[in-house]
Amino acid sequence: MSVPNHIAIIMDGNGRWAKKRGLPRLMGHNAGMKSLKEIVRACSDMGVRYLTVYAFSTENWKRPDDEVSGIFKIMVLYIKKELAELKSENVRIQVIGEWEKIPKDARESMEFALRETAENTGLQFQIALNYGGRREILDAVKELYRRTEKEGGDIDSIREEDIERYLSTAGSPDPDMIIRTGGELRLSNFMLWQCAYSELIFRDVYWPDFDKKELESCIAEFEQRHRRYGGL
Ligand code: IPE
Ligand code: IPE
Ligand code: MG
Repeated sequence: MSVPNHIAIIMDGNGRWAKKRGLPRLMGHNAGMKSLKEIVRACSDMGVRYLTVYAFSTENWKRPDDEVSGIFKIMVLYIKKELAELKSENVRIQVIGEWEKIPKDARESMEFALRETAENTGLQFQIALNYGGRREILDAVKELYRRTEKEGGDIDSIREEDIERYLSTAGSPDPDMIIRTGGELRLSNFMLWQCAYSELIFRDVYWPDFDKKELESCIAEFEQRHRRYGGL
């Protein structure tokens, strides 16, 4: 099986997974971490170069405080438990999104994970935390505008690559495939610039039930797609 270079995943359905079992929503987020662990390992084993996962959106602040803080606590726990293994598997952790605004302990544990894995050359594992596609584009445009003004540059000579340089994904290729679990057929503000030619794959299965087999079925579907990029 040839694998996509960059897989991105909208990990959705944790709450409904829990509800179906009569459990609190946080138990769903907790169960979702097991899937994340399995999928990161699977991608690393398969030789996927980039994996980006949508963990918390700029809109998810609308949720009750205890769910928001619970999600970040679970992220901290995930890093604590998995860091040693990720390190030994040569995985490099990166964070995209405005993560300076997330709770301090979550930020610190992420910063630690980034530092500890900065030299790793295997799977590039990007966690989208407090990430929103529109915010990302807006911030890039602002930065580009500032630079152009400061350097007296010509606005008409700005190219797409100049915007890309200021996105939080600068330096990584666009996702080849975006998977969304949980049955919703939308992007919910995920990688709006980068998704231009991504193959979109939707699965009804809730994220905590998503496993390596499911991932392989997504890759098989991806392989059937004919990517034309506007050509013939
Ligand atoms: C996705 O699961 C995880 C986050 C958004 C943090 P949800 O919490 O959205 O689960 P559902 O969609 O309510 O089932
Ligand atoms: C998208 O899921 C965000 C993440 C998976 C982190 P949501 O559950 O927040 O999306 P909507 O509200 O159904 O669009
Ligand atoms: Mg959801």
